[in-house]
Amino acid sequence: MLIAHSIADLRQALAARRHPAFVPTMGNLHDGHIALVRQARPLGDVTVASIFVNRLQFLPHEDFDSYPRTWEADCAQLRAAGCDVLFAPREADLYPEPQTFKVHPDPALADMLEGQFRPGFFVGVGTVVMKLFACVLGQSGGTAVFGKKDYQQLMVIRQMVRQFALPIDIVAGETCRAADGLALSSRNGYLGREERQEAVALPQALRQLAGQWTARPPAAGAALEQQAVDALRARGWQPDYLTVRRRADLQPPTAQDGPGMLVALGAARLGGTRLIDNLEF
Ligand code: PAF
Repeated sequence: MLIAHSIADLRQALAARRHPAFVPTMGNLHDGHIALVRQARPLGDVTVASIFVNRLQFLPHEDFDSYPRTWEADCAQLRAAGCDVLFAPREADLYPEPQTFKVHPDPALADMLEGQFRPGFFVGVGTVVMKLFACVLGQSGGTAVFGKKDYQQLMVIRQMVRQFALPIDIVAGETCRAADGLALSSRNGYLGREERQEAVALPQALRQLAGQWTARPPAAGAALEQQAVDALRARGWQPDYLTVRRRADLQPPTAQDGPGMLVALGAARLGGTRLIDNLEF
């Protein structure tokens, strides 16, 4: 696996490639990331992953400084998964000057849910992903693979690619889960032993919400969402939202939006750890 720390080295490594398949990450890799790399491999003539902890998408009180940096283990996992090129830019390379041009995603999509509770998050994500796309896929176009675990992020990126006519196919990877159903996440490592056992209550709550939603009388949606929030809160969580949206645009469903068109999304804090998850139904 070739490791490029600078944009120039990366471009040189990819100069003769016609269709890179790219998996952007912030490192601290787990089986979910590795599944995305394996999914990417047959989609291009070279498989590229990036590791870059993007300061721009963290709020000042969030975990940028403590975000786990696990370089050696990440490299070993990527090598074993057959990744050809790892792009790991230094901050000064990716942001050589204060970033005054930024990607501002459509507020109708980006200011709710994650964007409501993490203001500016999708500006940071959109901006860094645009830059990473320019570095990795800017010479040739290609394919990029994003996990469905970050459901709203995937939608923001798809819309960005469409509206800027970027020559990039966006492919979605299914969420990988532990045996008990908890979605794999770099932040799961923050959970203590008891918290880790409790964490499965989030996917369980989403499953219950989806089941109840399907059987509910038409007007009862908001009450079901509130019940789900209250139930998690009673277990000691601090929920930001548990909600059902339509998959097409993440707006609240209308009477026409039935099963097969919906997604239950949740974000909640357990102790000091904020977890997100979703379930299509
Ligand atoms: O999903 C992530 O890990 C990050 O948001 C991404 C897409 C790598 C941008 O920093």
